[in-house]
Amino acid sequence: MTETLQAELLTAIDAAGTPEALEAVRVAALGKSGSVSALMKTLGGMAPEQRLVDGPRLTALRETVTGAIAAKKSALEAAALEAKLASDRIDLTLPAATAPQGGIHPISQVMDELAEIFADLGFAVATGPEIEDDWHNFTALNIPESHPARAMHDTFYFPMGPDDIKRMLLRTHTSPVQIRTMLSQQPPIRIIAPGRTYRSDSDATHTPMFHQVEGLVIDRGIHMGHLKWTLETFVKAFFEVDDVTLRMRPSYFPFTEPSAEVDVGCSWAGGTLSIGGSESWLEILGSGMVHPKVIEACGLDPEEWQGFAFGCGIDRLAMLKYGMTDLRSFFDADLRWLKHYSFRPLDVPTLSGGVGA
Ligand code: PHE
Repeated sequence: MTETLQAELLTAIDAAGTPEALEAVRVAALGKSGSVSALMKTLGGMAPEQRLVDGPRLTALRETVTGAIAAKKSALEAAALEAKLASDRIDLTLPAATAPQGGIHPISQVMDELAEIFADLGFAVATGPEIEDDWHNFTALNIPESHPARAMHDTFYFPMGPDDIKRMLLRTHTSPVQIRTMLSQQPPIRIIAPGRTYRSDSDATHTPMFHQVEGLVIDRGIHMGHLKWTLETFVKAFFEVDDVTLRMRPSYFPFTEPSAEVDVGCSWAGGTLSIGGSESWLEILGSGMVHPKVIEACGLDPEEWQGFAFGCGIDRLAMLKYGMTDLRSFFDADLRWLKHYSFRPLDVPTLSGGVGA
C-alpha cells in the first residue's frame, strides 16, 4: 500500500509544472491532513511489533516524498530563471536609441545663446506676461495716455471688459518686464528678458508676433560707459568676431534719457554680409539710460539708483547671424525651412564650446 501511494505521489510530483501545482501536491501529501501524514498518525495506535515493521517504511516514504518535492522545486526554480534570462536578453548590437527627431528653431537657439552670453556677465533671465495692462506697457515707462509713442506701437488691444476699468493689450515690447522686475526686486538688478512681443505690422521684416530681448541694469553710479562696454562685449560674443565696431546714434525713447540707437559695423563684400569693420552699418538695438521718471514709477529714488536698458529684436539677430532673408518664414512652419535652418537638439550653446553652431 505504501508502494502504491509512493508511486502515485512521485508521478504527481513529476507532473507538477508550476511551483503552485507542486505546493498543492506537497499539501495533499505532507500537510496536516495529507495522505502521508495520515499514515504517520496510524503509528501511534499500532501494536509495537507492527510499528517496528511499519515505522521505518512510513518514515522512508515521507523522506522519499519530501526529497522528491525539494528536487522538483529547485528544478522548477532553475527553469523559471532560465526562462527569465532568455526573455530578458537584449541585443546589444542594435542602436541604443533612435536619433533625436526635430531641431531647435533659430529663435530658440538665439535665445539660448543670449542667456549663455549674459549669464556670464552676471545677468539673470526674467520673464513677464504677454498680456499686459496699459500701466506696465506704457504709463510706467513714461508713455502717458496722450503720448504719440502709443500710436507708434500699433498696439493690439483687447476689447474693454464689462467693468470698464482696465483694457488689456498684447505687450508691444519687453520693456514692461523692466517695470515688473524693479517692482519685485531690490537693486542691484541685472536681467535680460527675452520673449514674444506683438504689433499690428506685417511685411518681409515685420511679423505681428516677434521676439525681443530686453536688458536692464540698475545700480549706483551706472553710466553710458557701462552700457557701451556691455553691448560691445555682447555683440563680440554673439557674432563671434573680435573687431566689432559699434556706433551709437542719439535717438529717442520715452523711457530712456539719453537714448541711443546702436549700429554694428559690417561689410557686404561679395554680396554676403559679414560683421566687423566699418564699411557699412546695421541698426541692431535701442538703448539708453533709464529715465528718472521710470525709476521713480517703480518706487526707487533716481538720485540713488541709475541704470541702463536696451532692447533688441531677436528675430533680426537670428537673421543677421544665420543669413535668413525673410522674417515671415520663421513662422510658416515649413518643414523644409525648419530642417535647413534648425539646430541639433544636443548642441547646447556654451561660451567654452562656441555659442554659435
Ligand atoms: N522697447 C524699445 C522698443 O521696443 C527698445 C528699447 C528698450 C529701447 C530699452 C531702449 C531701452 O523699441
